[in-house]
This record gives sequence, structure tokens and C-alpha cells, in this order.
Amino acid sequence: MHILHVVGARPNFMKAAPVFRALRDRSGVRQTLVHTGQHYDANMSDIFFVQLEIPAPDINLEVGAGTHAQQTAKVMIGLEETLLQSRPDLVLVYGDVNSTMAAAVVCSKLQIPVGHVEAGLRSFDRTMPEEVNRIITDRLSDMLFTPSEDGDQNLAVEGVPAEKIHLVGNVMIDTLVRLLPRAQLPVFEGRPREYALVTLHRPSNVDDPTGLTRIIQALEGVARELPVLFPAHPRTQNRIAQLALNTNRGLHIMEPLGYLEFLALQREAVVVITDSGGVQEESTYLQVPCLTLRENTERPITVTMGTNMLLGSRVDQLGIEIERIMAGEAKRGSIPPLWDGHAAERAAAIVAS
Ligand code: UD1
Ligand code: UDP
Repeated sequence: MHILHVVGARPNFMKAAPVFRALRDRSGVRQTLVHTGQHYDANMSDIFFVQLEIPAPDINLEVGAGTHAQQTAKVMIGLEETLLQSRPDLVLVYGDVNSTMAAAVVCSKLQIPVGHVEAGLRSFDRTMPEEVNRIITDRLSDMLFTPSEDGDQNLAVEGVPAEKIHLVGNVMIDTLVRLLPRAQLPVFEGRPREYALVTLHRPSNVDDPTGLTRIIQALEGVARELPVLFPAHPRTQNRIAQLALNTNRGLHIMEPLGYLEFLALQREAVVVITDSGGVQEESTYLQVPCLTLRENTERPITVTMGTNMLLGSRVDQLGIEIERIMAGEAKRGSIPPLWDGHAAERAAAIVAS
């Protein structure tokens, strides 16, 4: 059986790595790894192949940045050519980025079966480009691997036949479980012992200069009480550069970090402030308080069971919530079912059967 994996953006790598490993251990399986090149900086791509021990991609489509239509179209054109040549038995796609959706469309037209890993998540907010990607990808997929029960329910409501849906658990947490013992704090001068860890990259938070300025000012307020470490996504770095801000000394804006360094920082953080999907999940697993600067989440289990709290655009609340956390009154959580380090093995067993 020939399985072709399509990855493209940072969070795809943490999800594909355990599935690739689990399938590698099965006899009769041949695998091809296609990188669309949606993310291309060394610290947004190459570093994860090394740290997560993923083999170098067989093919890189080098699509790079662009508008949604440009990026999606480039993935479709490049991947169609690849698939016409290699004709795999199954294509596996991950998460909700443009590369995921573009791959699902191409496979569907070529009548190549598609498996979607991390299916069924819904924010019910179509202003998020990822929500559109999730709906289309799920609609076109033949096998839908869900991370939690809510995913199954969403798919059932949309009329996806039950035999296509497989509740396997959270593959991103597989990577975390495997690599947590190797997580290592980054070395840099003046790294504080106690800190808030921040990541932000949603267009709704960072693309509007007024909104981003409000967020940065709120983080400066936090930094007066608790140092803030902010490894900034390139989209965000570009936007911050345009604001020409003079941030105070407690707010450390830095380059994106490797997985092992970022994971160690998450584990030790007093609080995580984010709009990332993956970080909401990882902080729930690590039981670190998480304040999410979004009005909604496609990962509601991190709120109902985990340590996550949605603050929306109420950045003025950050100080109050952090004070509460520092006073020992953080929201407690537990680890959702099947977030146990074995989700990819379950998915691989289903694929193989
Ligand atoms: C994408 C995904 C988002 C995901 C995020 C993970 C879509 C629609 N969005 O958002 O769901 O949460 O990745 O990180 O697929 N850039 C670089 N170097 C890189 C990558 C990006 O400089 O290696 C800059 C470019 O200026 C680019 C911008 O970041 O235009 C945005 O990149 P893009 O991949 O379009 O979207 P993300 O914001 O990264
Ligand atoms: N991450 C990382 N370095 C960083 C920031 C995040 O390795 O500087 C990891 C994080 O631990 C998680 C993943 O990137 O595994 C989340 O990706 P991202 O936030 O870019 O995308 P999203 O999950 O929002 O789609």
C-alpha cells in the first residue's frame, strides 16, 4: 500500500510525525512525504523535521506565501502533477491549513481516497479561513480521524456516514508525549524563571494595526508584573515591525522557537496567552493555565475539560486573570480521553485494515 502525506505549515509537522512513524512500523506500507512549502523559513519548517525526526520530504512544492487563492491554487497545481505520477492508494492530510484543503480537493477530483487527520473540529465561525478549510476537507474525505467526541458529533450533524468517522484521539499530543522528556528550555540572556508565554498569529488579532497595538499595550501591562516571552510568528513579526513600537524591557519579542524549546517553555510557564489551536491543546495536556484571545474555539474540550479560558478581545481582562492565577486560583483541568500518546497508532491500524 502506498500512502502519501501532505504537510505544509508548522502545526502539520507535529500531527504528521506520529502517523508517519506508526505506519512505518507496518509491513507492506510504502510512504511518500510531500511538503507544499506553505511555510518555508528554517524556524517554521526545517527545524521540526530534525527535532521530530521526520525524514526529509520526498517532494517540496515550494508554494510559499500569497493570497488564499494564490496559495491554494499553487498547491493544487503542484500536487496534481505529483499525484498523477505517483497514484498513491491513500493521501493523508492534517489539520486545517490551506495546504490541507487544497490537497483534499485535488485528491477528490482524481478519485484518490483521502484521510483527514484532525477531522470534525468546528468553530462555527466562517470568518476564520481555517473553518472553511475544515468544512471542505471533511466533506471530501473518505476517512475522518477525530481527536475528540465533539468532532464525531459535528460530523454526524453534517450527515457524514458513521462508518467514515474514526475517533482515534489527538495525534499532536502523541508528539508531545514522546518528546516531553527531551524538551529543553532555550538558552538566552536574561531568561526569567517565572513568565507568561505568548503566541499570536490569527489575522483577526494581528492584521489590524489598532487591534494589535491594543494587544501589545496589554502585554506590556502584564510584563510590569510578570515577564512576557513572545516567540512571534513571522506574520506577527512583520505586523509588529510596521507599528514601530518601543516595547518595555519585560516584554521579550523573539523569533519563533524550535518545538523542544517551546514545549519546555510551555511546561514551565505561569500562564500561556495564545490564539493558536495547537497551543490550546498542549496547555490543556500540560495543565498550564491558558488564556485564549479568541471569541470562539474549534477545540471546546480544552475549555470544558481543560485549562483553557476564552477571553475574546477583552485584553483588559488579562491582568485580572493573571493575578488570579498567581494567587493560586487558576482554573483546574483534566486530560481529555484518548489524548494518551497512542492516537496515531490507532489511526495507522485503521488505515492498514
Ligand atoms: C497558517 C494557517 C493557519 C495556521 C498557521 C500556523 C492558513 C489559511 N493559515 O497561517 O491556519 O494556524 O499557518 O502557523 O493556511 N511567513 C514567513 N515565513 C514562513 C511562513 C510564513 O515569512 O515560513 C509569513 C509570510 O509573510 C506570509 C505570512 O507569514 O505571507 C502568513 O503565512 P501563511 O502560511 O499564509 O499563513 P499563516 O498566518 O502562517
Ligand atoms: N510552536 C513551536 N514554536 C513556537 C510556537 C509554537 O514549535 O515558537 C508549536 C506549538 O508547540 C504547537 C504548534 O507549534 O505544537 C502550533 O502551531 P501554530 O500555533 O503555528 O498553529 P495552529 O495550531 O494555530 O494552527
